[in-house]
Amino acid sequence: MRLDKYLADAGAYTRKQAQALVRAGRVLVAGAVVKNPAQMVSDGHQVLVDGQIILRDAQLYLMMHKPAGVLTAARDRNAPTVSAYLPPLYLKRGASPVGRLDKDVTGLLIFTTDGELNHRLTSPKRGVDKTYLASVDGVLAESDVLAFEKGLDLGDFTARPATLEILQLSQARVTVCEGKYHQVKRMFEAIGKPVITLKRLSMGGVLLDETLLPGQTRPLTADEIATLRQSAQMEEP
Ligand code: URA
Repeated sequence: MRLDKYLADAGAYTRKQAQALVRAGRVLVAGAVVKNPAQMVSDGHQVLVDGQIILRDAQLYLMMHKPAGVLTAARDRNAPTVSAYLPPLYLKRGASPVGRLDKDVTGLLIFTTDGELNHRLTSPKRGVDKTYLASVDGVLAESDVLAFEKGLDLGDFTARPATLEILQLSQARVTVCEGKYHQVKRMFEAIGKPVITLKRLSMGGVLLDETLLPGQTRPLTADEIATLRQSAQMEEP
């Protein structure tokens, strides 16, 4: 297999990034610097980038800028799903979304093959923070900040305390540590200011890369993976 394909298959780099790393002389194959991305890698050859071993079957950690109008599901008979936007290589390797975003909700959606991390990030027990940008119908007030902070009564349950930062009359950043069905929409509904648009900006300390266009995906950096693992209270491997 070509070296650039090997690196892209490993999931830490896009094919373009892999080619740039190889040309920059940062990649060793079987102990020697290789500067040609088309060089073939044989089974058993060790591949290193900046001294770190790259395994082709390593876990995948990705972020997608989820577009509107797309379901967070593997497939659906009637609507497009996020699978249509995930590069086939990642789909084939079994990368799954970490939690869900509603069809109309945009922004950060993390995918991984790491089942343990996925489970921990979505477990209600751990209460990993998620931040959203919400535009609402109505004018937000200081009393709403207090209501979010206190914990809103949503009928079937009381939401855990959340942080509301008013940015404009009808726009706010909201941080919640739960992920119940339609949670954020229901919270704004409860204060009589329904959500018009909702975009997830961050999860577990990892921010949406705003250079990604809706529908685009990129591998998480090593720092982003470490941040997520910390949020999930996982030991470093
Ligand atoms: N809250 C919602 O209401 N919808 C989402 O997709 C995520 C959080």
